[in-house]
Amino acid sequence: MSSAPSTRQPIVVAANRLPVMRTDDGWAPSPGGLVRALLPMLRETGGTWVGWTGDPDDAAEPFEVDGVELEPVPISAKEVELYYEGFSNDGLWPLYHDALRESTYDFDQWDAYERVNQRFADKLAEISPPNAIVWVHDYQLQLVPKMLRKQRSDVTIGFFLHIPFPPFELFSRLPWRAEVIEGLLGCDLIGFQRPMGASNFIRSAQQLLQVDEHDRIIECIDHQTRVGVFPISIDVAEVEETAAGRATRQRMSQIRARLGDPEVILLGVDRLDYTKGIGLRLEAFGALLESGELDPERHVLVQVATPTREAVEHYQDERQEIERLVGEINGRFGRIGLPVIHYLYQTLGFDELIALYRAGDVMLVTPFRDGMNLVAKEYAAAHIDGDGVLVLSEFAGAADELTDAVLVNPHDDQALQQAIITAVEMHRHERRERMTGLRDQISKSDVQGWADRFLRELSAAPNLPPSDNA
Ligand code: F6P
Repeated sequence: MSSAPSTRQPIVVAANRLPVMRTDDGWAPSPGGLVRALLPMLRETGGTWVGWTGDPDDAAEPFEVDGVELEPVPISAKEVELYYEGFSNDGLWPLYHDALRESTYDFDQWDAYERVNQRFADKLAEISPPNAIVWVHDYQLQLVPKMLRKQRSDVTIGFFLHIPFPPFELFSRLPWRAEVIEGLLGCDLIGFQRPMGASNFIRSAQQLLQVDEHDRIIECIDHQTRVGVFPISIDVAEVEETAAGRATRQRMSQIRARLGDPEVILLGVDRLDYTKGIGLRLEAFGALLESGELDPERHVLVQVATPTREAVEHYQDERQEIERLVGEINGRFGRIGLPVIHYLYQTLGFDELIALYRAGDVMLVTPFRDGMNLVAKEYAAAHIDGDGVLVLSEFAGAADELTDAVLVNPHDDQALQQAIITAVEMHRHERRERMTGLRDQISKSDVQGWADRFLRELSAAPNLPPSDNA
């Protein structure tokens, strides 16, 4: 599907990471729907993407990928430790995910977070054309909107939070809670994944800054900040096309054969993050083998756990626990040459993932809390055969839309086991009916539509000159 930019204003995107990765032949666009949705818009409007290359102390000059200008923001090794691993991923990340782990609140980390946010804002102020639309992404950059507005009152500023925004009772633990809300209120439009995130944010703004709000519009001193709900999606056409390819079909058959042609392949695909509920899922699988409701000769689980944030202790602990469980369950129920859990601690390429989705009869997406979870949407989009069952946590944003999944509360181990059995034993007719429902839903809302809707609302913000509002 081609992306129709909703505005002719130049668009400038800011995200912690640039949308590229290093390959043997230089830089290439990173995989993923967000990048595929935004790059064409930037190209068509002459826009720019501002972000970090992912390497510490990288003083890369601006460069171009796929006709889009990329502006690197350097981050030192010490700042990676304090701003990225520390404040963003050991402070905000657990707090915003139901405080599933203790957060670290440390002044030096906050200081580095402010400093890096200021660097992003300065770069945006320097390179944004007059009246540009600036779209800032995610929790690593929450202070940027206010910092940018101070320097450039002509630009229109949007922010999208990809992760949940916590209830005030949790958010108020943050020592710099007022500063974060003030930072975000520099925006013309703030987007959340779910209605709950939007109302949590509004309540925090009211409690901490006594702002006036009506119909999701917050009155600030010199402007209004609108709050909206924009559930993100995937590049449906890209997933479907890849899923339909010959190479994918061949690889899918090969995967099934390599796994010993089991009756049912259960599948998990996650970043190795403690929010994803991987351990609980493995325990449920082990308990069902133990009770005999699943049979190692007929049922196997493939768990892909993508390495992520490996320097953060909570992630190291989670990996240890997952690998202990995999070893324990395989030791107990595996046979020579046929483990019952196939565990890959690896980053798989897009094509391999799509083949795995197609091979998976039952997809297990069981996070304790997740902003959206695009794996759930990719699984359904990849099932062009109209078969396959999705088991989905109620605590993933995707549960609002994917109501034809087998929805489950992952905190309830009995319910999780029951959901797995329901999925494994589901009659073909019901499987197909539910998959049709999932695929209909996803085809109505892909990532291009998401970006388009956000930018349309943003470009209708009052501080744009009327002639540019068309
Ligand atoms: O959606 C949450 C998020 O942190 C994104 O900002 C990021 O692109 C993705 O997860 C991967 O995380 P990281 O950049 O820390 O590897």
